[in-house]
Amino acid sequence: MIRETGFSLKKYNTFGVDVKTDVFIEFTSLAELKDIFENELLNKNQNFLVLGEGSNILFTKNFNGYVLKNSIKGVKIISEDKDSVEIKAGAGEHWDDLVNYCVEQNYWGIENLSLIPGTVGAAPIQNIGAYGAELKDVLVAVEGLSVAELKEMRISREEAKLAYRNSIFKNELKNKFIITHVILQLNKKGKPNLSYSGLSNYFKNTPVDKIDIGQIRKAVIEIRRSKLPDPAQLGNAGSFFKNPVVSDSIYNKLKSKYSNIVAFPVGDNRWKIPAGWLIENAGLKGIKIGDAGTYEKQALVIVNYGKSTGKEILELAKLIQKTVKEKFNIELEPEVNII
Ligand code: FAD
Ligand code: EPU
Repeated sequence: MIRETGFSLKKYNTFGVDVKTDVFIEFTSLAELKDIFENELLNKNQNFLVLGEGSNILFTKNFNGYVLKNSIKGVKIISEDKDSVEIKAGAGEHWDDLVNYCVEQNYWGIENLSLIPGTVGAAPIQNIGAYGAELKDVLVAVEGLSVAELKEMRISREEAKLAYRNSIFKNELKNKFIITHVILQLNKKGKPNLSYSGLSNYFKNTPVDKIDIGQIRKAVIEIRRSKLPDPAQLGNAGSFFKNPVVSDSIYNKLKSKYSNIVAFPVGDNRWKIPAGWLIENAGLKGIKIGDAGTYEKQALVIVNYGKSTGKEILELAKLIQKTVKEKFNIELEPEVNII
């Protein structure tokens, strides 16, 4: 168990903002995690934050308390039959290593989620999604520590209330439950999921039965690299805001005013409007406050061009919210966890 005080988090958040935490502890097992609570946190009634790879977090100031970095490793098959396999992975595993392993084994279900940064344990927090797939399609359950009782608990997919960029862990169980393991069910006889138009276009000249799981992973990686900045080169946390979902009547009003508006039906007479379109069409693509700016290839991504502070990034995010609200009367809700 690594323990540091007055520790810089610059390398531990993909925005690369330079803030410090009072105490930083890296834990590698449930027993170590329990120990931290028993011996440090509970009797001192301290503030804490569980950290994966910091790819969905914006630190706006120094963290007054304990940052607990999850490094619980391990991937194992817990059951299988001829059609499917159940895999249990440590929450501190790198998500894309797990995807790569599953693709190599020909286990279908998470190949469309290739190259999403972060840890396995953070994947259920916002129900990660991309290219027509979401974690909820494959999640069986999570295991972890209930902070109040210091007891190990299992939470099923149904109990986890996974929805678009949302779950029970961001709401009722926020700061009350720490995920230590994730259990997924994958398919040994899967088929390509080409529901996302960018992917079906990519394969427009290939018959579906000729597309293997490795080709899907390769295509997703290529498309992602063409649109999204690599945090190792340019600090960012992916989409800063969620895509807003609006009613039929709001969408129709917008459509009559802005005939080029982009929207996708999500059922129940509701439409998802890309926040990137709203930000670009509010004239905000490429704007900057200090070293914080909207990315020139994808307006929904806020990037750190060098020495931006978390406060500047937040200031830019607020300006975007205000301008989009004034122009389109739509509230943008942050996807990134602002600390
Ligand atoms: P962190 O940022 O470390 O933590 C995120 C939140 O989860 C925090 O509130 C933290 O306290 C909490 N948390 C983390 N681990 C645990 C745990 N074990 N138990 C309890 N709480 C925990 N997301 C998508 O959904 N789809 C995408 O396509 C996508 N693309 C991205 C592209 C880029 C370039 C980047 C930088 C980010 C992208 N993201 C995307 C966002 C991000 O990758 C995911 O949200 C990811 O799951 C975050 O993982 P993390 O380990 O970095 O979590
Ligand atoms: N668009 C613009 N201008 C822009 C950016 C986008 O007009 O600057 C419009 C385009 O019409 C484009 C549409 O928005 O067709 C959608 O853009 P894109 O396909 O890039 O996807 P997105 O809606 O911006 C979402 C997720 C991503 C995920 C991709 C692929 C959210 C908030 N974001 O982005 O997730 O990778 O779809 O499925 O749902 C993340 O959550 O961090 C993330 C990167």
